[in-house]
Formats: sequence, structure tokens, C-alpha cells
Amino acid sequence: PVLVIDFGAQYAQLIARRVREAQVYSEVVPHTASVAELLDKDPAAIVLSGGPSSVYEPGAPQVDPKLFDAGVPVFGICYGFQAMAGALGGTVEHTGTREYGRTELGVRQGGGLLHDELPDTHPVWMSHGDCVTKAPDGFTVTATSDGAPVAAFEDPERRFAGVQYHPEVGHSPHGQEVLRRFLHEIAGLRPQWTTSSIVDEQVARIREQVGDGKAICGLSGGVDSAVAAALVQRAIGDRLTCVFVDHGLLRAGERAQVERDFVAATGVNLVTVDARERFLTALAGVTDPEQKRKIIGREFIRVFEQAERDLKAEGDYRFLVQGTLYPDVVESGGGAGAANIKSHHNVGGLPEDLQFTLVEPLRALFKDEVRRVGTELGLPETIVQRQPFPGPGLGIRIIGEVTAERLEILRKADAIAREELTAAGLDRQIWQCPVVLLADVRSVGVQGDGRTYGHPVVLRPVSSEDAMTADWTRLPYEVLERISTRITNEVAEVNRVVLDVTSKPPGTIEWE
Ligand code: XMP
Repeated sequence: PVLVIDFGAQYAQLIARRVREAQVYSEVVPHTASVAELLDKDPAAIVLSGGPSSVYEPGAPQVDPKLFDAGVPVFGICYGFQAMAGALGGTVEHTGTREYGRTELGVRQGGGLLHDELPDTHPVWMSHGDCVTKAPDGFTVTATSDGAPVAAFEDPERRFAGVQYHPEVGHSPHGQEVLRRFLHEIAGLRPQWTTSSIVDEQVARIREQVGDGKAICGLSGGVDSAVAAALVQRAIGDRLTCVFVDHGLLRAGERAQVERDFVAATGVNLVTVDARERFLTALAGVTDPEQKRKIIGREFIRVFEQAERDLKAEGDYRFLVQGTLYPDVVESGGGAGAANIKSHHNVGGLPEDLQFTLVEPLRALFKDEVRRVGTELGLPETIVQRQPFPGPGLGIRIIGEVTAERLEILRKADAIAREELTAAGLDRQIWQCPVVLLADVRSVGVQGDGRTYGHPVVLRPVSSEDAMTADWTRLPYEVLERISTRITNEVAEVNRVVLDVTSKPPGTIEWE
């Protein structure tokens, strides 16, 4: 793999994704890994990421100079560029000129990275206080900027290069090309990481792991569990059984969609468990968001365990398929000190004492790769491009107690909002648009000649890259108007539609 060493920037995962977009497999590793540990992974190249520290700060993460003796190509970005310069005998100084944001890069001379085909000056995205003032011996300085006398350098002979700016972000329009050139031309790597190679490799691995055993998979209706199941099904056929728990907190048509579209596309064995009564009973009288989440998680596990016992009578299901993604793997390795904002309940998140061996065919993949794998496996758009929907479902979109009547009201309002957003062609533009029922709030309205005293619903359209941060989406007024008119006309209990214009932070995407 190409190893992306994470110096604590939020960019390391993004860099890893960009490397893969250049069709080269990459993994993120913490900067605390020793050179021996890095070399153990047999890296094809190493990318040093940016980071928040100043190279001079006491305790700032450093690069062990031994890394550069291993004959492995190295690319430094921002902090990684400075650390690399420092370790190889160049000079890094605190000049007092900070560059932050869009900067013009002046290309001095072509070289392997900044080739003649790129414009002589072009915008790049910078974020630094220190800068490299003298490149190490053997390096050619290929670009400068106002605040960075050495903004890019390379030593093609030793296959080292680096840039002061962030090539991985969209604000550096030629950044991907520069990264690609490092990988393909300077490091000499072949573009082999393609969707069909991912499918072939995973299918082979699953076959090897499962042998002639049987596996079960909890389907949530979401992209990840669907693609994981489709991959495993491709590998072991009808020795896979999927279990779909209908907890009654689903949106309109969701269960039918899984039963119809997913089965039609894959021909998988599917068991649907109707647990609607059970969840409603368990949630009766509960209004606290964390308590709701815990109850839903607990009941889900109980239902799944029961389904598993029922299946056991038919054969030995030793394997459990989970749709764990690469970002979860990276984050659970390095997420020390992260505050628990909400106890996220992943429908796949089953307890360890379930006696299963886990099969996690998406562990190495990013979300966009998962979507492409799904398409390659023949899953329909309705599944592959599905927007995120929380495991606890509508249960955390009813503010107040969850009851069957309230679920019905919310389902109707939500279906209208989704229909109109789809009709307006906005599905790809928004990340998701929760509809929230303020079940304990009432307000006065007028309809026909009569006074109404109904409930408000909240529209929460958001745009996001990864759900960690989000902005409220500026939906066209005409679309908002249609949604509002239809909901207040068609859903008798709702007499007011309001719009949530809060970014995340400070608001989270879901209301509970
Ligand atoms: P928040 O509300 O924390 O949500 O800003 C971030 C993203 O995660 C989704 N979400 C969940 N997904 N189980 C899930 O699988 C959960 O318990 C859960 N809670 C929130 C939410 O829809 C948004 O996309």
C-alpha cells in the first residue's frame, strides 16, 4: 500500500481517498508508528500529511530521518513537507508571514510534479505559519509563492518530492494531477486499484474466510449493509441469509423497497422480522433522546439474537457480515478523547458475546468506493445512492414520546418532503433532509373556516461531505413552498412547517 502518515490533520483520510482516486491502494497510519513498523507493511510509497503543529513546538511530531534511507518514495504535504525538509538537512523557519487560503503558486521550472502542461501560475490552497527557506541538498525547487520561498521541491533520483500547499483539497484545482504524477511518474506505481479489482479481491477473501460455512447479515436498508451483503452473496451464494428487522420506525415504503429491490438485484435469502409491536411497547412513555437510542439498540439486538437462534435450527451460521467502513476503522484506532455526543446505534452494531466470526468486506473501503462496488454488483440506484438514515429511524425524529399515531403523521410528512425533493432533482445536492415532528408542541392555525391546533414539523435539509460538519442547504423557495403547502394540506395533524437554518456545529444533523 501507499501509507499516509497522519500528523493529526483532518486531511489524512482525504489524502488517502485522493491516492485511491489515482487508482493506487492507500492506508492511513498514525505518526507514532516507528520506521520499522512502517517498513513492515511493505509500503509502495509514503505520504506525510499536514498537521496542526509547528515543527518547532516542543513535542511536535517529527519524521525519523531513517525513513529516507529505506529506498521508499516519499511525498510531503504542508507540515509533512516541512518535517521532510528538516529531516533531510534543509531549513525551516518561522518567517512570520502566514499564508492561509487561496494563494497563487508560481511554477519555477517544470520537473516531474509541476509539468509544463500545468499553467505557470495557478491557485493552490495554503495553510501555514512556518516555511521551508532552503531545500535539502539534492532537491530542485520547482515553485514558490509570496509567503513560501520554497513551495514545492523534488529529487526524482531518490523519488522524493513535496509541496507546501494542500493538493488534496478541491481549492487546489491541479492538486490531484500533482498527486497523481507523484504516484505514477515519480514513484512509478501502476494504477491497479479499480472497482472490479476490489470486487475480485474481496470475493476471493470472503471465500477463503468462510470456506463452506454459512453467514448471516443484518440488513438496515442502508448502503453499507446492502453492499456488504451483495459482496458476500457473490462469494458464497445461498449460504448467506439476510435478516431485516422492521422496528416500525422506518419511513414509508422502506421495508417494501428492501424486500423488492434488494432481493430482485441479488436473489439473496431474506428473512424479515416484524418487531413493530415490541419496539413500540419498549418505547412507551420514553421522551429522553439517549434513553430512546439505548432502548432501540437493545431491542434490536434481542430481535436479532432471536432470529439467529431460529436460523440455527436450519444450519450452522458461524459468520456474521458487517458493513464496517474504513473511516470507522481509522477512527476507532485513533479517536482517543473524542466526546460522546450521541450514542450512535449502528444497526450492524451487535454485541461481542454473539458467538460469531465477523466478515467485514468493506473494512478497507471509503463510502464512494462502496457505492461503486454496489453498482458493479448490479445494485439499483435506489440502494446505492441512498442518503443516510439513522439506525434508530423515526424514533429520534419525533420529539417527545414515540407512538403509532405520531409515527404515521411523521411518515406522511416525510414521504411528501422526499417526493418533492426527488421531483426537483435535488437528491444528489443534499446530504439528507430529516423531517422532525415536534409532537409535544402545538400551535394555532386556521384552515377552511376553522381554527386548528396542530403540530409543527421541521425540515432539516443539510449539505455535508462526511456528516462531521454540515451546513443547512439553501433550498429553492418554490420547493419549500410546495413541500409546505402539501404537508399542511395532506397531513391533517400538521398545521405549520418550519425550516431549520442551523449549521453543524452547533446543531447536530438529527434533533436527538
Ligand atoms: P448527527 O445527528 O450526529 O448525525 O449530526 C450525523 C449523521 O449520522 C446519522 N446518524 C446515525 N446513523 N445510527 C446511524 O447509523 C445512529 O444512531 C445515528 N444517529 C445519527 C445522521 O442521520 C447523520 O447522517
